[in-house]
Amino acid sequence: MTYDLLILGGGPAGFRAAERAGHFGLSAAIFEGKALGGVCLNEGCIPTKTMLYSAKLFDYARGGAAKYGVTASGAAMDHAFVVARKDKVVKKLVAGVEMQMKKSRANVVRANGALTGKNEEGLFTVEAGGETFAGKNVLIATGSSAAIPPIPGLNEALANGFAVTNREILSMQEIPARLVVMGAGAIGLEMASYFNSAGADVTVVEMLDRIGGRLDRDIAALLQRNYTVRGVKFLTGSRIRAIENGCVTGEKADGSAFELEADKVLVAAGRKPNTSGIGLETLGIELRQNGGIKTDEKMQTNVPGIFAAGDVNGVSMLAHTAYREAETAVNVIRGIDDEMRYDAIPSVIYTNPEAASVGETEESAAEKGLNVKTLKLPLLFSGRYQAENEGGNGILKLVLDGEKRILGAAMLGNPASEIIPAMAIAITQGMTAGDLAKTVFPHPTVAEILRDAALMEL
Ligand code: NAI
Repeated sequence: MTYDLLILGGGPAGFRAAERAGHFGLSAAIFEGKALGGVCLNEGCIPTKTMLYSAKLFDYARGGAAKYGVTASGAAMDHAFVVARKDKVVKKLVAGVEMQMKKSRANVVRANGALTGKNEEGLFTVEAGGETFAGKNVLIATGSSAAIPPIPGLNEALANGFAVTNREILSMQEIPARLVVMGAGAIGLEMASYFNSAGADVTVVEMLDRIGGRLDRDIAALLQRNYTVRGVKFLTGSRIRAIENGCVTGEKADGSAFELEADKVLVAAGRKPNTSGIGLETLGIELRQNGGIKTDEKMQTNVPGIFAAGDVNGVSMLAHTAYREAETAVNVIRGIDDEMRYDAIPSVIYTNPEAASVGETEESAAEKGLNVKTLKLPLLFSGRYQAENEGGNGILKLVLDGEKRILGAAMLGNPASEIIPAMAIAITQGMTAGDLAKTVFPHPTVAEILRDAALMEL
């Protein structure tokens, strides 16, 4: 049989492509050696959010709710129960993807696939589980893995379990007394948050002078302050130089040495695209400098008919980007004009409070030489925020261009993850502060802060 689309990888990009292909009547085969759902469903987005929700409830129960006149005694968090519930949620969602694949009539092949070139009919060939499959198009969606920096002792520590990645940390049955987190990106911060709530003594070591990567500087600083108050220690501008059982050593920003005793080390120092062992060389598929597969805005690689979506192209490395990239690829395969836009991709760090952003920050705009104005508003302007965030220090920042068009937004405060999509729409649609001000928001909501900020600009 000749497939319209062969899909390498069953994560968000892969399963979404199979879904859309099926929806439009294209035949697809999807190759996945592990569980469907990829990192996001099995060892990323969903499991972490499940666990973080338990941690949030525990924080309220053990004293956080006292500010609202609610106290409880004997509060406890059963970590093993939290992990078991997480596994249950993951299982249900993976089963949902399986169902969806059936509904989409995709042939799910339970083995990793690798490109083997083209056959005599000019069709692409993929080998999986000892069989060869032929297709008119291929989508590479093999995802990414934890990047392991070349630090002496780290490989040994990973082998003996002293160091873990995002994968193993989600299945640990016990809370380590002392946890060192390498990297203050999304994974590092979310896990620091969970293990801090769960009672671990957490130290985050970050190479850069700030936490949260490209997150707005003010918001990153506030987030760091909030977690410092909660007892998380941050060593920014610091490098880990060696890892030995029970001990992490390195160098601080000022050049002085540090030594941390630890029971576990989480490696959260970025991700690298999974491009080896999938036969890219058979067709001469080009890579970017960061190791991701080179794609254009139509998700096409340098080989016509071969597409790449999700973390493997190394562009945005987020599940929601992967969805839209996969949809774009399927549309292009159908002959529909579509292009991927990267200027309005929201990013959320699910700490408590959440930090969410989309589009330009003051800094990124300055790097591009854009002439922008930034509005900054405390969330305490919002009645709903005050009602539900006693003592909260959340803020909103909006970045506008000379015509008051919205170029970016960043927010610290709950539920920022549910509010930021409104700003993704605004940026995608080219809306101005005036357009925002003419939109009626429900009252009382924290989202109203967006309108309040826009009104200040009129
Ligand atoms: P990241 O790239 O977001 O952050 C890694 C951090 O580690 C950076 O700040 C980097 O400066 C630091 N670092 C690198 N090497 C280091 C070293 N040797 N010592 C100390 N610090 C070092 O990567 P992360 O957090 O591992 O996340 C991976 C990917 O997964 C990202 O693309 C992220 O966006 C995505 N993700 C998204 C989530 C979300 O949207 N909520 C949640 C978790 C992950």
